[in-house]
Amino acid sequence: MLPSFSPAATAAATPPRPIPGGYGIPVLGPLRDRLDYFWFQGPEEFFRRRAAQHRSTVFRANIPPTFPFFLGVDPRVVAIVDTAAFTALFDNTLVDKRDCLIGPYNPSDSFTGGTRVGVYLDTEEPEHARTKAYSMELLRRSSRVWAPEFLNGIDTMLTAVESDLAAGKEGGASYLVPLQQCIFRFLCKAVTGADPAAESLVDRFGFYILDVWLGLQLVPTQKVGAIPQPLEELLLHSFPFPSIIVKPGYDILYRFIEKHGAEAVAVGVDSHGLTVKDAVNNILFVLGFNAFGGFSVFLPFLVLEIGKADAGALRARLRAEVRAALEETGGEVGFAAVAKGRMPLVRSTVYEVLRTRPPVPLQFGRARQDFVLRSHGGEGFAVARGEMLCGYQPLAMRDPAVFDRPEEFVADRFVGEEGEKLLSYVYWSNGPETEDPALGNKQCAAKDAVIATACMLVAELFRRYDDFQCEGTSFTKLQKRQPS
Ligand code: HEM
Repeated sequence: MLPSFSPAATAAATPPRPIPGGYGIPVLGPLRDRLDYFWFQGPEEFFRRRAAQHRSTVFRANIPPTFPFFLGVDPRVVAIVDTAAFTALFDNTLVDKRDCLIGPYNPSDSFTGGTRVGVYLDTEEPEHARTKAYSMELLRRSSRVWAPEFLNGIDTMLTAVESDLAAGKEGGASYLVPLQQCIFRFLCKAVTGADPAAESLVDRFGFYILDVWLGLQLVPTQKVGAIPQPLEELLLHSFPFPSIIVKPGYDILYRFIEKHGAEAVAVGVDSHGLTVKDAVNNILFVLGFNAFGGFSVFLPFLVLEIGKADAGALRARLRAEVRAALEETGGEVGFAAVAKGRMPLVRSTVYEVLRTRPPVPLQFGRARQDFVLRSHGGEGFAVARGEMLCGYQPLAMRDPAVFDRPEEFVADRFVGEEGEKLLSYVYWSNGPETEDPALGNKQCAAKDAVIATACMLVAELFRRYDDFQCEGTSFTKLQKRQPS
């Protein structure tokens, strides 16, 4: 049973109330919230506790980074952790998405060769439609080679993992590096037509360069956990990192795309009116940040969830579904084999992973005007023009008003007519799963390609193996398919 709630901003149902919570005294309030967020509580507990304390799914808090060297970064946000109020973040009449991709802190555009790339642009900026149209055209052009290139990469990855496993590596065979290499190569070839094999430096180190480039931009906003927390606070969360550290690597990738992806660059110049520099920088951002970054986080979540030791029953159901569907489509995995309706449990499992572990957990947007933010039951909160909204997806996606057993992983949650209705509350792509990316919105341009790619990965695993198991980012068992 789904609740009926008003959209995030409507004519007043009940008079708006002030937003609970606060920011504390200058410097100390933000510092305390930062330490709670990274250290004493962690992001999820940070939002959970404040929602409980204020008995509200909309409240005020400070979001890192802050103090002492993030000058000009205002950490004050209106946090949102329910599915109803969250929709305000998708309404471009209400929020301005300019320069707030990762929050109030905006990494310097020197990370992107001096270009303000499309993902940082608001829908009211004419360049947004231009760069989004470019991304969407690159995706359309890639559709013929996307599946074969991805499966080729997965084959290389699994062959490497199989031989590591056969060699009896302790703790299983890690697939992290082979997976990143697979994602990097497949994206370069599919999206830009540039084959990393043409330059051995790019082929061997391209994905490392992207990891460092991503890390330098994101680390001030992320809990890392690799060094003791006091050191992490001092060394990783106190100041922005300069892009100069990764500039030589970025320049290598820039020249690689300019030369070997020349056709894709020309599409940006000839059909979308971009300069060569802006076309290459936009390609590198979409490829490196959105696509490589997104898949590098999401695919391991997916493999781990299915490969858990206690998920044997789910694997058996998935295997049966995949094999039956492949028999109907000629045995090969591809877009057609995973099209909507063919593997409903596989698709639902993919959605459930995106619900329980949204790869991009935070979404931001600045109020364009004063408005009433509506939560469930018409409850309203007065938001003032210029305030930064911050939606925390991991909690919104476990909203008990919408999802039954919200904390549980229910693989077939989205199967069938009733299950599919819930897709309008799945927001991983920065918009409801039932809506489509367009030039006038900020929804992920590759929304459908991401789902199909994840379904293909699951299908390929069960085409190839009777069973498998994972721990962390390692395979501990790969049981090859036996003739039936
Ligand atoms: C698992 C993989 C991916 C995830 C989780 C993901 C997620 C997202 C999210 C959350 C946004 C909205 C960011 C915001 O404004 O707050 C976004 C935007 C975008 N994504 Fe994806 N994405 C993925 C893969 C891709 C791929 C493969 C491409 C293209 C090759 C792509 C292209 C874009 C573009 C162009 C935008 C900007 C939309 C706009 O500015 O209107 N993404 N993505």
